[in-house]
Amino acid sequence: MSADVTISTTTAARAAGGAIATLFICALATVIGYAGAVRAQAAGEWHGPEHIYRSACVYCHETGVAPVLKGRQLDVAYIGERVRKGFGPMPAFKPSEIGVADLQALAAWLHASAPAPADGN
Ligand code: HEC
Repeated sequence: MSADVTISTTTAARAAGGAIATLFICALATVIGYAGAVRAQAAGEWHGPEHIYRSACVYCHETGVAPVLKGRQLDVAYIGERVRKGFGPMPAFKPSEIGVADLQALAAWLHASAPAPADGN
């Protein structure tokens, strides 16, 4: 999936030219890629919390779009609420996308995680 996004972004960016167009297309590809990843996963199909995080969260949370989550000991219930209700520009994730047990595991994993590598945040 991410390979497809990378290729189409590069091709489209070359055709459009210009820094602003490139930025816009990158943002669009990011959102489309993220939505595709989440749609592709019905509840119960995730392979552990890191899989969910890599597929559904890093698009924003390790790219400077949204605050870093790892290594902050964020409260488990707080993470769960943000994921279910959304937060500003962050979409809400339904139980059909991230199941109850999967969200619990994701929140606990994030709470206990080491800091993400420096990424400009
Ligand atoms: C489309 C981009 C996007 C995606 C995907 C996304 N988030 Fe977010 N998230 C945001 C933004 C933007 C904020 C900050 C909102 C604000 O401050 O108004 C945020 C805030 C948060 C916060 C609060 C952080 C804080 O410092 O208080 C948590 C927790 C969170 N997101 C968890 C997640 C998790 C877990 C996932 C994956 C399941 C995820 N987000 C996916 C954009 C995203």
